[in-house]
Amino acid sequence: MPNTVFSTEILPDGNACRYDPPRDPCIIVILGASGDLTSRKIIPSLYQLFLLGLLPRDCAVLGCARSKLDTAEFCSRLKQGVLEAGADMSRWDDFSDKLYYHELVYEEKFSYGGLAETMEQISRTHQTGKNSLYYLAIPPFLFETVITLLGQTGLARETEGCWRRIIIEKPFGSDLESAVRLDGILGNFFHEQQIYRIDHYLAKETVQNILAFRFANSILEPLWNRKYIESVDICALETLGVEHRAGYYEKAGVLRDMFQNHMLQLLSLVAMEPPTQFLSENVRSRKAKLFQALRPINTESINDHIVLGQYTEGALEGHLVQGYRREPGVDMQSLTPTFACMKVFIDNKRWQGVPFYLTSGKRMGEKQTKITVQFKGVSRSVFRNGMMSSDSNNRLTFLIQPREKISISFRAKNPGPVMCLRPIDLEFCYDSDREGKIDAYEKVLIDCLKGDQMLSLRQDSEELCWAFLTPLIEDCEQCIRTESILHFYPAGSSGPVEADKIRLNK
Ligand code: BG6
Repeated sequence: MPNTVFSTEILPDGNACRYDPPRDPCIIVILGASGDLTSRKIIPSLYQLFLLGLLPRDCAVLGCARSKLDTAEFCSRLKQGVLEAGADMSRWDDFSDKLYYHELVYEEKFSYGGLAETMEQISRTHQTGKNSLYYLAIPPFLFETVITLLGQTGLARETEGCWRRIIIEKPFGSDLESAVRLDGILGNFFHEQQIYRIDHYLAKETVQNILAFRFANSILEPLWNRKYIESVDICALETLGVEHRAGYYEKAGVLRDMFQNHMLQLLSLVAMEPPTQFLSENVRSRKAKLFQALRPINTESINDHIVLGQYTEGALEGHLVQGYRREPGVDMQSLTPTFACMKVFIDNKRWQGVPFYLTSGKRMGEKQTKITVQFKGVSRSVFRNGMMSSDSNNRLTFLIQPREKISISFRAKNPGPVMCLRPIDLEFCYDSDREGKIDAYEKVLIDCLKGDQMLSLRQDSEELCWAFLTPLIEDCEQCIRTESILHFYPAGSSGPVEADKIRLNK
């Protein structure tokens, strides 16, 4: 089916902004295919790409898991997930012709021999050649085993000009040491160009727009520094609770779940230096440099830099919801934080002294992810004596979700006889129409199929983020300290009031 939406967009000045969809034939191998991620995200996204004509013509999807299933049962399970995602089912049968299932015992080497044979058969049927993309949708405790066995059975080897890529999603380790070990194991069999450490946040439209906004507009760069910016707020608030993920979340908590990846990635986009060119290695190097400049948070002053919280029972959207400790699978005495607010400084020339406030929490009063850049006030203002309020200094906001919007607030004169100023907003909104947009998982998948690593995390950045957070997490996890910085907040609220205090002392 021709791809009408993405192929070529002609800009007014005659330059072509071309998008070439991935064309290389390949097999997408999903390890962990009986799990939730596969039916909720991966398959609906692949199907959507298929509908848009963005999947290579010669491609097939092979799901692997322990469960005893045949391909027909597997397809009918997946169909359910796609239906629930509200997709247009008119071409499902064509898509499902590309779907296969293989029973895999993750820990048994011989089972990977069977996998290789199945891949060859599929390759003959669909002319997919030897290119393969492995998506690790398995629980993290299996990462090392599966990577090693893929490697030992030759399934990672790029021979005869083919490519072999691997997608690995967080949690990428649980601290610096485990992340370094995982990188070591990956590095035994895959080289860095084959590894896609993905973060779906980076593929959100407004998140991608941060770099465009910063580096394609000359009005911003002169102001984008400590001289004009007072502070930056990055927040990702959710109304959802821990859902059915207590097993993972109890060990992770909000710092590993949201900060080590999404929050620090957002920070890097706001704060990094301009890359010499918009190419993945240039951008990834700038990010790594930024992470190197994060000022370590001294454990002596931890209370001035971080506030942790945990939700208790409360009212949310008109319903009473239970507290974290009452969620299924959660320890009744749990000290796992579901909220954190952290003040971070960047020790470089551009940002010295500017606080970045990173806030994320579950079961908050509203779902909202946004970045607010607060500019400084007008010095020795012309407009004094109550003509304007001091809390209406210019502000740039990137609203990432639920709506996607970028706005800048200015001061302007109120209509009427007096010179009285009020804030006004200039706004840019994406069309609510889906035309031309693809969602975060779809973007991540086509980038991997194309071999574009722009949105995946490079090893050095992954480890630098862990190096920044690990001492903090370890400190917070010492019970006594945790109790002194863990504050409880009712579900449906805006988090613990203590979070405001870290804004007071710079
Ligand atoms: C995931 C976290 O990475 O991101 C979840 O593990 C969180 O705990 C989710 O709910 C939030 O993603 P989004 O795209 O809904 O903001």
